[in-house]
Amino acid sequence: MFAASFAHISELLAAYRSGGGLRWAELGADARECQAELNKPWFERELAPALACVGHLHGRLSTPGARIADIGFGGGHSTVALAQAYPGATFVGLDVDEESVQMAQRVAGDAGVDDRVDFVLADGSGAQQHGPFDVVFAFECLHDMPRPVEVLSAAREALTPGGRMIVMDEVVSDEFAGPADDVDKIMYGFSVFVCLPDSMSSPPSAATGTVMRRSALEGYARDAGFSTVTVLPVEDFGFFRFYELTP
Ligand SMILES: C[S@@+](CC[C@H](N)C(=O)[O-])C[C@H]1O[C@@H](n2cnc3c(N)ncnc32)[C@H](O)[C@@H]1O
Repeated sequence: MFAASFAHISELLAAYRSGGGLRWAELGADARECQAELNKPWFERELAPALACVGHLHGRLSTPGARIADIGFGGGHSTVALAQAYPGATFVGLDVDEESVQMAQRVAGDAGVDDRVDFVLADGSGAQQHGPFDVVFAFECLHDMPRPVEVLSAAREALTPGGRMIVMDEVVSDEFAGPADDVDKIMYGFSVFVCLPDSMSSPPSAATGTVMRRSALEGYARDAGFSTVTVLPVEDFGFFRFYELTP
């Protein structure tokens, strides 16, 4: 990812100087493929067992005919892992990056789940047009979004009664502190070289950055009309924490 970003160092420097940004699509194939490969093992091996331990969510996902959304699916490995774990469900993925749609369609085809998975080139802020959904997921992408509240609001409107939104994002510390811990340090690196420029490429932007603290997510969820945010009991899942948002 570092190499992918440094191929664009002059554009990044220009963005730092101007307050502008650099779109994820402009970072190119190396960044896109790196992102997909980084998270693929977690989705393939750990996602289903982790969700199976969260009884009420597992029940909802297992209900025959469940409709599930994956906003910001990237390489599509999360959607495909969910489709394999929940064969009675259908899936809609929404992502704004055209190359990701094509990559994810290939991944779903190779896995033989493309009959139940529809990857759409669309912004998450239009999620309600593709619903209703029993569960909406957003894996490691909310902090990249320039307008996270718009996307969360649309996801909330898209939910069926009793539906839930699950946000997987970085397991950063609750407070800014110096010296930062190792997770915060690496996430500030990703933030400056990848996520913050991406978010700031489309003004007006919340400019969240990769270090999206729990309080920031809680604020966005509240502004989007969710009543509660809880942390799911999913431990030791890479760099991630799972938040459950209840309308
Ligand atoms: C860091 S990647 C994460 C991809 C994937 N979820 C994963 O865990 O590997 C962020 C993704 O969010 C997508 N994205 C950013 N803003 C979006 C928006 N407003 N609506 C839908 N997708 C968005 C990007 O195109 C990109 O594919």
